[in-house]
Amino acid sequence: MDTTSVWRGTAPPTGFSMLSGEVATDVLIVGGGITGVTLAALLAEGGRQVVLLEAGELGSGSTGNSTGNLYETVAGGMKDIVSHWGDDVARRVAAERRSAVAFIEARCAHLPEAAFRRCPHVIYSTEPSHNAQVEDELEALRRAGCAVERGLAAPQPLPASAGAMLVLPDQAQFQPQGYVAALARVAAEAGARIHEHSRVVELDAKHRKAVTVSGSVTAKEVVLATHTPKGFHLVQAQMPVHREYGIALEWDADGPGPGIFHLRGQDRLSVRTMEAGGRRYLVCVGQEHKVGIHNAKAGLLALENQAHRHFGVRPVAFRWSAQNYRGADGLPYIGRNHSEAFIATGFATDGLVWGTVAARLIERQLAGESPAIGELLRPGRLTPLKGAKNILEESATVVKQLVKDYLTERQAEQLARLAPGDSAIVEAEGETLAAWRSPEGELHAVSNTCTHLGCKVHWNSVEASWDCPCHGSRFRPDGTVIEGPAVAPLARKHLKSLG
Ligand SMILES: Cc1cc2nc3c(=O)[nH]c(=O)nc-3n(C[C@H](O)[C@H](O)[C@H](O)COP(=O)(O)OP(=O)(O)OC[C@H]3O[C@@H](n4cnc5c(N)ncnc54)[C@H](O)[C@@H]3O)c2cc1C
Ligand code: FES
Repeated sequence: MDTTSVWRGTAPPTGFSMLSGEVATDVLIVGGGITGVTLAALLAEGGRQVVLLEAGELGSGSTGNSTGNLYETVAGGMKDIVSHWGDDVARRVAAERRSAVAFIEARCAHLPEAAFRRCPHVIYSTEPSHNAQVEDELEALRRAGCAVERGLAAPQPLPASAGAMLVLPDQAQFQPQGYVAALARVAAEAGARIHEHSRVVELDAKHRKAVTVSGSVTAKEVVLATHTPKGFHLVQAQMPVHREYGIALEWDADGPGPGIFHLRGQDRLSVRTMEAGGRRYLVCVGQEHKVGIHNAKAGLLALENQAHRHFGVRPVAFRWSAQNYRGADGLPYIGRNHSEAFIATGFATDGLVWGTVAARLIERQLAGESPAIGELLRPGRLTPLKGAKNILEESATVVKQLVKDYLTERQAEQLARLAPGDSAIVEAEGETLAAWRSPEGELHAVSNTCTHLGCKVHWNSVEASWDCPCHGSRFRPDGTVIEGPAVAPLARKHLKSLG
């Protein structure tokens, strides 16, 4: 299945070259999403030498597969921040995020590809059982100092409100892929060296050296802008990892106008419109699913059915999916950690803004400053007791996955019975393997043990990948890393019986 997002499918290509040879620089940034590209632009404009290495194409991680909404609150609810941290921190969070949206707006004044527009953020209940949730959020936003108002009716043709609606005026939305592509051009013009198709396959954060298949970079500082940091980091034990599905329906109907619409009911749904190449689309993103332990096809189908139910059966022009990592206490982890590198992770589904906050903060920290927000978002911070519950739950999930897989996955299926397009965990020549037969009939077999910390991978039928439920590493059928903390590929198996 083609899983190109509406953003990546309609933005101009990027086209930076691969890294070649040995390079020395001031700052090495690994990862070319909004975090890495924004930081590269800021550093280069400030006269620092900077090299950015991106494994695939710029934006190909979560940035170009997001919803492109920019807001001062957080999608999980400001209520969580207020209850974990109190009103003062909620105010600081909203103010910092508001300032990041204004920063993006100023940048976009010179970047028409980013299609930036101001719009309201509307959150409303579609079922009476969710009225209280929306009312609580309204109260939390007031406590966080946001100019929130009560809304009256959902614009046509969105589903009707069940009674509770809040409106945050003056939020924004943009084309996230268009933004990173254009900002990368600005960064390169200011002197940043940007390389695509340059996956870091070995990283020595202490000695600040990264190796790709075609070269290496030695730097004075390393920033891991890889969404979740590569390798072993304490924060990984605290972050639940989820995948979300998105679709873009062809949309020639009137309304809704520009706006971020978050529907709260049995099913959660995020809806917005976007225009590209003379066409209009309705973008819908559904609820999240735990990586590696859900049925990917069923998740995508559920979203399509939900959209058709609300908006009629219309052609689905784009389908895609992306990952989010949630901080245990509702805040991201940004700054230098025990590995000596800078990390920026735990953005949940709010990372277009958090990623911008991170880039601006790390730029100042690299200049020797210590902004107050840096202490709040520090990776090794003390988490309020209420956040500790999430950490324990997350650790329990990991342990359960490790144990469960060792007990049950050895119910082998025979390789010979594997039909084209099928996958299975199989026993072959004394080993447990993750096997997949391509539609052309070629059999791929790799170790089913994740190279990060040893959990067992599970098949993702939508994106044809092996996904690890523990910290979100994902691998292609041939074992190469797609995303997540793993650096090394799954070991390939060449057994006589295969084929
Ligand atoms: C479905 C969905 C919708 C979302 N919608 C919104 C939204 O509307 N608003 C919002 O604020 N947030 C949203 N988010 C969250 C947001 O998209 C992310 O938090 C944000 O894009 C993260 O940016 P990033 O630059 O840190 O990471 P990414 O964009 O994931 O970039 C990391 C990059 O690192 C690269 N990389 C990884 N490993 C290596 C390596 N070894 N070597 C070199 N490069 C490497 C990857 O290829 C990738 O391009 C959404 C998330 C999802 C899942
Ligand atoms: S991602 Fe950590 S064990 Fe797989």
